[in-house]
Amino acid sequence: MKSIDIMVEEHQNIRRMLNVIREISYRVMTNGEYELDDFPLVIDFVRNYADKLHHGKEEDILFEAMNKQIEKLAKSGAITGMYIEHDQGRLFIANLENGLNSLKEGSDKARLDIIANSIAYADLLNRHIEKENTALYKFAENMLPDDVKDSIDNDCDKIEMEAANNGIQARYLNILKILEDKYIS
Ligand SMILES: [Fe+2]
Ligand SMILES: [Fe+2]
Repeated sequence: MKSIDIMVEEHQNIRRMLNVIREISYRVMTNGEYELDDFPLVIDFVRNYADKLHHGKEEDILFEAMNKQIEKLAKSGAITGMYIEHDQGRLFIANLENGLNSLKEGSDKARLDIIANSIAYADLLNRHIEKENTALYKFAENMLPDDVKDSIDNDCDKIEMEAANNGIQARYLNILKILEDKYIS
């Protein structure tokens, strides 16, 4: 499925950002070289590329169709688990943002919240992506009827085109590249 191929590519890009998140966290822990103002870029990427664009397609299109079409899977709770993990990720990022605000207000101990929530998010998403790549997406490819697959591809295509018209993918791949150049070498 074309839509799933694109989602797997998005997973690769999200994982690249997870590496950046771990590296910045390490530098926060060791008092290394980092800029606090890079965190808002990470959060912007996570909220708009990983969450709004990528999780948006999963929640509103792919997983919704799987829940309706594949009764056995819906009953197993596997899909609900994916929605719950998306929510846990949102909580870690909100906590990270609070930690950044506290650090800016002078609380040095807020570095703990920044590191803990960044690492927890990266670990959650890495495991989540693995489950989707190796199980959920394979179930979709193997178990959905062809007409449903076509309709998922069409719906995802519309979202991709609209995002491309607004420069979304280009903006976030650029942020990713800038942060990788700075932190990963
Ligand atoms: Fe997901
Ligand atoms: Fe995903």
